[in-house]
Amino acid sequence: MATILNNEILDMLCDNIARNGEGTLTLAGVNLASLAKKYGTPLYLYDEGKIREKCRAYISAANELFDGGARVMYASKAASFKRLYEIMREEGMGIDVVSVGEIYTASAAGFPLEHAYFHSNNKTDHDVEYAIKSGVGYFVVDNVEELYSIDRIAKELGIRQRVLLRITPGIDPHTYEAVATGRVDSKFGSAIETGQAMDITAVALSLESVELCGFHCHVGSQIFDAEVYIAASRVMLRFIKDVKLSLGFEASILDIGGGLGVRYVESDPYLDIRATLSEVAAAMKKHARELEINLPEIGFEPGRSIVADAGLTLYTVGTVKRIPGYKTYVSVDGSMADNPRHALYGSPYTILPVSRELPADTEICSVVGRCCESGDILAENVPVPQDIKRGELLACLTTGAYHYSMASNYNRLTRPAVVMLRDGEDYVAVKRETLEDLTRLDV
Ligand code: LLP
Repeated sequence: MATILNNEILDMLCDNIARNGEGTLTLAGVNLASLAKKYGTPLYLYDEGKIREKCRAYISAANELFDGGARVMYASKAASFKRLYEIMREEGMGIDVVSVGEIYTASAAGFPLEHAYFHSNNKTDHDVEYAIKSGVGYFVVDNVEELYSIDRIAKELGIRQRVLLRITPGIDPHTYEAVATGRVDSKFGSAIETGQAMDITAVALSLESVELCGFHCHVGSQIFDAEVYIAASRVMLRFIKDVKLSLGFEASILDIGGGLGVRYVESDPYLDIRATLSEVAAAMKKHARELEINLPEIGFEPGRSIVADAGLTLYTVGTVKRIPGYKTYVSVDGSMADNPRHALYGSPYTILPVSRELPADTEICSVVGRCCESGDILAENVPVPQDIKRGELLACLTTGAYHYSMASNYNRLTRPAVVMLRDGEDYVAVKRETLEDLTRLDV
């Protein structure tokens, strides 16, 4: 019974996680207890093969399904460190960057920045200059102020900067509020509904040192329904047609953002990348035909669905506190500093013992961190062995996206190392922070 439950959870969440003959969890065939011993905990782990598999799934589907061509840009806010940009370069992916810090990291990894889209709703003049000088291929322009800044700085630097305009199509992606960015009431982009999208397009076309190439939208994150993209693309293609009629400009690129959902827990649906893209492609071609426009080159910006289930985090249990009549708190050596997602979004997780199967007798607990804050909860309602105690290893699954990249030094906790697994071998991609690192910038 317990074995079935375990295997079901594992197969369902990700095919790279399994149990070996001794019942110990493995990721990409590597024993997790051995990795915890070698590197200590908390520890972020990535299966390099899984990341590459996802990149290839996107690129092959995008290339085969879209007649007008397609490009896939990894949204590197999901996880940003040098090794990942090297993998993206090797896989022929583009990247989406959102800050000078991400541009710098990608550049330090030797990523060819002409294949980068630079986002952000508030690029300072310094950001604009840094990105242009770094050779960033495209700016995804959020607003008119930014357009003027790019035009002025590009002129000073003697170049013409290629841009896309970020448009808000007004689609509600049925996802959680905090990450729903495609609606009209949003800090991102220019809305079609208010006329601002057409206005900014006219401004872009009037500027000498800006080369308008097309449009961008992003409707949200952790989306499980292809219909959301189909609805957004219908609105965007209609807008492209209206722009052609009103301003005589024909967009050559339409980027429809990222957001494909992944499974954190059993109740999350499974989304097949190719099947989803295929539905979107068929609908887009149909819309374009109906509107009598050419389908532009289509861009995708997946972040989570590239790296999330390639990753997991290992923790060691510390204090186990049972409050009779209330609940049990199992504390681990990590916290909201290495995983703020439950604290921020109430996100659920699957957490499993590393060194043994989940027994038939479990106890439901809250897995909490060691920050000095009651909200420092990693997951609620987690079944753990009734005899769980200090020293037991736990694995929190599906932590490859928005964990390391959102980690902080809150409570002066040091950030965990990032270890990658490749062909049965392990190697460090990001070193564990030391206490000295914590005071490095203090004067
Ligand atoms: N493109 C744009 C313009 C975006 O804003 C985002 C995510 C993406 C692409 C990638 O979306 P993805 O494929 O990863 O869903 N910290 C939150 C997620 C915030 C997403 C923000 N934008 C979380 O941990 O769930």
